Amino acid sequence: MAQRIADLPTPALIVDLDRVDANLRRGRAYADAQGVDLRPHTKTHKGPRFARAQVAAGAGGICVAKLGEAEMMADAGLDDVFMPNTVIGADKAARAVALAQRVRFAIGVDHPEQLVQLAAAAKGAARPLEVLVEVDVGAGRGGAAAGEVAELLRRVREAAGLRARGVYAYEGFTYAARDRDELVARHDEAQRALLAVAAAARPWLDGDERRGAAPTVSLGSTPSLLAAVPLRPGITEMRPGTYLFNDLQQARWAAAGGRWEDGLGHAAAHVLASVVSIHGDALRPWRAVLDAGSKALTSDRAVGHDGHGLLVDHGLTVARLSEEHGVVEGPGTERLRVGDKARVLMNHVCPVVNLFPVMHLVRGDVVVEALPVAGRGFLV
Ligand SMILES: Cc1ncc(COP(=O)(O)O)c(C=O)c1O
Repeated sequence: MAQRIADLPTPALIVDLDRVDANLRRGRAYADAQGVDLRPHTKTHKGPRFARAQVAAGAGGICVAKLGEAEMMADAGLDDVFMPNTVIGADKAARAVALAQRVRFAIGVDHPEQLVQLAAAAKGAARPLEVLVEVDVGAGRGGAAAGEVAELLRRVREAAGLRARGVYAYEGFTYAARDRDELVARHDEAQRALLAVAAAARPWLDGDERRGAAPTVSLGSTPSLLAAVPLRPGITEMRPGTYLFNDLQQARWAAAGGRWEDGLGHAAAHVLASVVSIHGDALRPWRAVLDAGSKALTSDRAVGHDGHGLLVDHGLTVARLSEEHGVVEGPGTERLRVGDKARVLMNHVCPVVNLFPVMHLVRGDVVVEALPVAGRGFLV
């Protein structure tokens, strides 16, 4: 007999395949409308199954965050992998070069020392290792300053085993925008900064041989996709990741200027939790306890939301977390009953997926597959 969502032991990670299909179509439509290549970041789902679905839905290749993820994807037959992240250490440089012998693989760089190690590892390799220079366009995380890019590219030129495919940035600071206008303005700032660097670096870039040696100029991210932010000519690639599942943080962008509640309809992943106890009465405030704490929901916060997740069917918020407990408070809590199962929309889905050994894939109420999270816990 088919297993139903309500039969699952909790906490469980639920992925709604109909919504995933809609999100895949939305990703493709945005990339097509903007005339850019779609290279989704697989950090959200962490496995070959959905990576293949993304390629089938029009992605030219995929992104990963770690070498271990790249190796796992290559083993599974994904043959065009970009890691928009940097590594240090001779062992990792050797793994990057080894990957480039097996599949089309490129890696990020933002410091000369990384290039020294990658160049040493790539010396004499049959196939060159492609690199993209990460540029800091305002996120203040990784990324070289505009003035440092030429020196990095000079080093790539000197290294026989390396090729410079292009430049990339991650515009994570756009997440903090208050509304779509501000998102568009912030994103445009990121685009202009990256395009200026790409133009100045053009003589040094080998480019992408599959695109007639035109350099790759690559940005993230999910809010820009969901809010259909216009891209400037010259941006060649987008790397959204969260769009496949979405989460509470993305709901306002998924609403696309409409009602925030409609944005919730794009969320394909939830944590199913049980109400294990409830306390309160006319004198004491009601408090319900879920069996999903930080071990299931993470402690990540969501821009624009209080708390640690939304009980989507009740309009209640997980107010507090400890490792195994999620505490729901506030008006309406008294309507919950011990034993109720609640769908909790997490603040940020990517680290939640990393916490679960399996995700339960569903169509309607029916669990169609228990899919192991193949790339769970890859640290190196
Ligand atoms: C380098 C890089 N590219 C792309 C993405 C995908 O962005 P989003 O999570 O907004 O889909 C991320 C997310 O962290 C990232 O770090």
